[in-house]
Amino acid sequence: MTHSDASPDTGSEQARREEELLERVLRSYDACADPRLKELLQGLVRHLHAFIRDVRLTEEEWQKAIEFLTRVGRITDGKRQEFVLLSDTLGASMQTITVNNQAYGDATEATVFGPFFVEDAPLIRLGGDMAGEASGEPCWVEGTVRDTDGNAVPGARIEVWEADADGFYDVQYGDGRTAGRAHLFTGPDGEYRFWAITPTPYPIPHDGPVGEMLTAAGRSPMRASHLHFMVIAEGYRTLVTHIFVRGDELLESDAVFGVRKSLIKDFERLPAGTPPPDGRALDGTWSKVRFDIVLAPSGAAPQEEPPH
Ligand code: BEZ
Ligand code: FE
Repeated sequence: MTHSDASPDTGSEQARREEELLERVLRSYDACADPRLKELLQGLVRHLHAFIRDVRLTEEEWQKAIEFLTRVGRITDGKRQEFVLLSDTLGASMQTITVNNQAYGDATEATVFGPFFVEDAPLIRLGGDMAGEASGEPCWVEGTVRDTDGNAVPGARIEVWEADADGFYDVQYGDGRTAGRAHLFTGPDGEYRFWAITPTPYPIPHDGPVGEMLTAAGRSPMRASHLHFMVIAEGYRTLVTHIFVRGDELLESDAVFGVRKSLIKDFERLPAGTPPPDGRALDGTWSKVRFDIVLAPSGAAPQEEPPH
């Protein structure tokens, strides 16, 4: 077979040159003294070269990618982390979480942390209100924290945070308010309960290069409605997760791939006038949800071999 100068030669000489370059780059990292760093760098080189060769990346496309990453860097500052959004929207955050929170018995699945957690959220009592001044329909949340043998975990620290009915976290208002976040501790039987607001959908920040990427790809920046949890207890793997609302039409298209089937819960909507569990005076509708949490022991070895 003959080729003109402009047509790609994907035959043996071309493949040999590409392979030779890859091997040379790999060898240049052979002397790396830190074995883990060596594994990471050589793995990255292998996969990056495979990608370039696989899609037959053009020089113009590579230049565009570099310009895109430069813009991701420029918009990133102490408050805006566009690289994390990029990782989230490429599914890399969720895959890293999946790899590092190996399935263990019926332990509750983990999902993305997101950028809106704040340390030192107010302490509420069991049955207290984490909503504060956040707008939204009241939602009663209750459940237990147990280990994988079914034993209660008393004194577990539960952090909860969520966006208000307008789709904003308190920190996004920039006026120093604290609303829609709190922490509480499980009682002697591992039980917990609190008032929140019924979760509503909201977009991830999409006014930067990651938003442009989503638009170009025909993807939505919307996250499925959710309520964030982080559960911390001595001797257990810290769980970072959310619960999602069954029936939410965004469950299949969550912008950051955070939805797990096991985390979709029934939020029962109750008509105005239905007495709430704690006798709180409410004028309008409210909802309730149950979320029973199971913690894996810390340092838990996976029960199945991960795929290679
Ligand atoms: C969040 O759920 O808060 C979130 C997660 C990933 C990106 C942006 C927001
Ligand atoms: Fe969120």
